[in-house]
Amino acid sequence: MAFSQLDRVKKRLQFYGYYSMVIYYLLFYGHIEYLVQGDDFMGDIRVAIAGLGNCASALVQGVHYYRNAKANEEVPGLMHVDFGGYYPKDLKFVAVFEANRKKVGLDVADAIWVEPNCCLKFAPDVPKIGVKVLPGPVSDGVAPHMKESFFSHDLEPVDVVEELKKAKADVLVSYLPVGSEKGSRIYAQAALDAGIGFINAIPEFIVSDPDDPIAKGFKEKGLPCAGDDIKSQLGATILHRVLAQLFDKRGLILQNTYQLNIGGNTDFENMQVENRLKSKRVSKTQAVTSCVDYELPTKIGPSDYVPFLKDNKVCYISMRSKAFGNLPLDLNLKLSVQDSPNSAGVIIDVVRAIKLALDRGVGGELSSISSYSFKHPRYQIDDFEARDRVDEFIDGKRER
Ligand SMILES: NC(=O)c1ccc[n+]([C@@H]2O[C@H](COP(=O)([O-])OP(=O)(O)OC[C@H]3O[C@@H](n4cnc5c(N)ncnc54)[C@H](O)[C@@H]3O)[C@@H](O)[C@H]2O)c1
Repeated sequence: MAFSQLDRVKKRLQFYGYYSMVIYYLLFYGHIEYLVQGDDFMGDIRVAIAGLGNCASALVQGVHYYRNAKANEEVPGLMHVDFGGYYPKDLKFVAVFEANRKKVGLDVADAIWVEPNCCLKFAPDVPKIGVKVLPGPVSDGVAPHMKESFFSHDLEPVDVVEELKKAKADVLVSYLPVGSEKGSRIYAQAALDAGIGFINAIPEFIVSDPDDPIAKGFKEKGLPCAGDDIKSQLGATILHRVLAQLFDKRGLILQNTYQLNIGGNTDFENMQVENRLKSKRVSKTQAVTSCVDYELPTKIGPSDYVPFLKDNKVCYISMRSKAFGNLPLDLNLKLSVQDSPNSAGVIIDVVRAIKLALDRGVGGELSSISSYSFKHPRYQIDDFEARDRVDEFIDGKRER
């Protein structure tokens, strides 16, 4: 609003006595915040989280770690520091739901350090957030073999929809354990019923399935969602995908490939039970097989739980191919990475994409950010093309 207009509004307000003084006061403070935050301040993004495990710890730490990041700065793991006007510092954690009785009732900033979380402390000074962890509906989030490791609570769960509304959340991020078929739907439905955006970081196929009733609900209600199964900054999936594309583009014919992953966090402990990780295998396998247009024998997925590795994930990729003269060309590589921080920057980007969509009144599955940031998106496209599309979305040249 131009200053002359603002002055006119202020003058009019002075006529309305006591109540107008209150409004004037609020406007004044809004203006102060605007001045303090700078002329690029677009407002906070109010984030709710289901599952304050290692990924959420990395996210909370990352937002604090990059609180002073400037637009022209290169931050590893983020597409842009300034993502359509939103910065990492704009993320505010307003509601957190957990199944772990040791985390429930604690301030979020304290709960991120509670066992069995083992994400490295790269921002050990996260200040109190002023939000206490709430007991969420446990449902099938905790598998029978994980009851002790996750310290599963038997408290009365809160009403998730009510809490999301009370917290005025903009978006809910689901970080539930793999295999939470019912649990992830409870939270996705709650986000829909609360009228907010939804991010599905786990391999349950909700956002990617156009026929899924919840995905349809987001479209009908004009609320944005993104998913499914977050793809790390440089993890096994993107590496394997890019290599498969490289083999293909250089005319090599892949004979078979495998990707074996081991780690020592609860994600790996949970995935020891094969029937819990069906969707994870599908998600990780399709992400790679979709890069070539012929039948490719593959074995891809979590392979073992090695407790002492903690949050260090180790991945072995093998690619066997035929090159010129039908001669063999084999590639074997090992990637070693801190698992949870590897996806935190990606989620910071996705959260900001959801907020931009909310600001613009765009609802339903956000294709560009989903293709770029998730292993199992609705549209599996080239990763670099997907990045260009996200930039077009940010610039407003692409609706979704
Ligand atoms: N880079 C990555 O780490 C990465 C990449 C892709 C996908 N993911 C997926 O993200 C999800 C989270 O990963 P993580 O490493 O943080 O797992 P984690 O085991 O550290 O955390 C899961 C958390 O969910 C809580 N929980 C269980 N049931 C719940 C319920 N019903 N309501 C609320 N909380 C509940 C657990 O107590 C735990 O704190 C997993 O599904 C994982 O496969 C992670």
